[in-house]
Amino acid sequence: MRKTIIVSNRLPVKVLRSATGFILQTSEGGLATGLGSIYNQAGNIWIGWPGICTEDAAEQEQIRLLLQEFNLIPVFLTKEAIERFYEGFSNEVIWPICHYHPSYAVYKEENWSSYQQVNTIFARQIQQLVVAGDEVWIHDYQLMLLPELLRQQNDLLSIAYFQHIPFPSHELFRLIPWRNQLLRGILGADLIGFHTYDDSRYFIDACVHLLDLKTRKNLVKHVGNSSYVEAYPMGIDNKKFERLAASPQVIARAAVIKAAFNESQLILSIDRLDYSKGIIERIHAYEQLLIQYPQYKKKVVYYMLVVPSRDAVSQYKILKDEIDRLVGSVNARYGSSDWTPIAYFYNTYPIEELSALYVAASVCLVTPIRDGMNLVCKEFIASKRHGKGVLILSELAGSAKELIDAILVNPCEINGVAHAIANSLSMPEEEQRARLDGSLENVSTYNIDHWVQQFTTRLREIKSLQQSEMSR
Ligand code: G6P
Repeated sequence: MRKTIIVSNRLPVKVLRSATGFILQTSEGGLATGLGSIYNQAGNIWIGWPGICTEDAAEQEQIRLLLQEFNLIPVFLTKEAIERFYEGFSNEVIWPICHYHPSYAVYKEENWSSYQQVNTIFARQIQQLVVAGDEVWIHDYQLMLLPELLRQQNDLLSIAYFQHIPFPSHELFRLIPWRNQLLRGILGADLIGFHTYDDSRYFIDACVHLLDLKTRKNLVKHVGNSSYVEAYPMGIDNKKFERLAASPQVIARAAVIKAAFNESQLILSIDRLDYSKGIIERIHAYEQLLIQYPQYKKKVVYYMLVVPSRDAVSQYKILKDEIDRLVGSVNARYGSSDWTPIAYFYNTYPIEELSALYVAASVCLVTPIRDGMNLVCKEFIASKRHGKGVLILSELAGSAKELIDAILVNPCEINGVAHAIANSLSMPEEEQRARLDGSLENVSTYNIDHWVQQFTTRLREIKSLQQSEMSR
């Protein structure tokens, strides 16, 4: 039977050491959350880093057995690889460039070598697992070289690459000293997916301008192969969030949270620690709300959850310090003995707690400066099948192309965001409901099953097209 091998740098669960041995915890980030519910169907497997470094063979075997039960296969990476391939190249070159922060990029030859080595390790491991007819679906920017490495080993293999982060203008991408190798790496895939049409066009433009390749509509032609480049906006497991939000435990927990904040209206944000998420700008916008609309003092609380992420990378450390300082200054300046304006948490919460926060919140603020898609906003919408709430969404998130019933804002226009919060807090219930219903229709129709179905069907279609062209 044909199987799909899902590949990503990080597995959807991470292995942690505990007093009693190894335990599993859900990984952070949209990719793990989004695909987490579908990967272990029909004999599929998922290959990736288990989030722990150990060179001890016995420990590695133990971890392998633990994960095997869930159809997960670990790729073990050394501490040095994590520093160079993951932190140094993936997150200090590709991430800042793709998120329009070229001044944060740090170009080092040794990190590029490590990126090449790790992509080769993944290729070797996949090669051992693949049988004729299988499909390999590679996810995200940490593995840009992998499609070509697999293609070199196997001409006929069905290979797809999906990038979950934005693809920038070629004028930015060209700054990367190894830009051509990265583009050629991705082009090993038969089907290349992005969340938005704009990102797919930027990728095609880069192939034309930097590699001088010929294209026909969304088909990029290159030596020995051609790749289709298309947009597939990712959805969520909407039913899971709807079910959780309707469960008595979550409803009770939401009531406890609201009571803990004296029944104030809660403004919620949930992000991984990342400079692309617009966290600093958002705190400034909230401060403006308190200045320009003082009637909301003691009536609202900004519940800000920041999920720890990449804290060994220097720009993330700097950001963390800046957030800590700014939250402290807003709370000290505007707070009082009976009211803290920002309830700030730096933690990873289980999905039930996130669900309770979505249920309790009056306003959800999703205001990234750049985001490939963003699934938090879709989770908020799915949690509001009943009840009230307003989503304020950055026009620079991929999801803004779909959730047009949200209040769309430019996250850098601080006063604009402050006014949007004020308008949301006083929005009539009928308008809240109408906007939520509009977004709910989108989130329910274009959910995770739809995304997987569309993408994999298209991959099979392309493969059979190629086969019939070859046999002609
Ligand atoms: C984003 C990326 C994913 C990544 C996740 C968490 O969603 O698109 O590829 O896994 O962030 O980041 P981390 O660096 O912890 O894997």
